[in-house]
Amino acid sequence: MNSDSDLQIAGDILEVPHLLQTPREHPATVAEFVGLARSIAADRSQWEHLVQYDATTRWYHRLRTGPGYEVWLLSWVPGQGSGPHDHGPSSGVLTVLEGTLTERTERGTRVLAAGNERVFAPGYVHEVVNDALEPAVSLHVYYPALTEMPMHEPRCSVSTAHGPAHAVTTA
Ligand SMILES: [Fe+2]
Repeated sequence: MNSDSDLQIAGDILEVPHLLQTPREHPATVAEFVGLARSIAADRSQWEHLVQYDATTRWYHRLRTGPGYEVWLLSWVPGQGSGPHDHGPSSGVLTVLEGTLTERTERGTRVLAAGNERVFAPGYVHEVVNDALEPAVSLHVYYPALTEMPMHEPRCSVSTAHGPAHAVTTA
């Protein structure tokens, strides 16, 4: 009696490398952008020595660029905030590297500690502020690169400022 399955694997996939996908040099999917952010966050030697703090204005530094994306390093002294804004046509990954940031959206408030991340789509409106007593550092991946950051009215009037034709989308 032949009990062999009809399903057979023809050969060893590792012996036919031309059939395997070539690893991408640059991220191109949401998961890959999150992976990029996590790898940078985990390797402090890539960003720790660059961080500066500026009490007069939020400090930022373009850490890396690639085809269709940019990576920014930001610092926030206590009390500094972004104001409500969106990111134009860009999607993004926000990762807190040090300290604690507070994100406010029309859906509520979220406290982001070191290691926490937010992934957002175009049109996402938020306000980020350092409400803590210690400075904070964050990493921002934008794809496509951030070309505009339209400011919005304070949160209480975000939804009415744009009317129903420009409904705010949140991720
Ligand atoms: Fe933002």
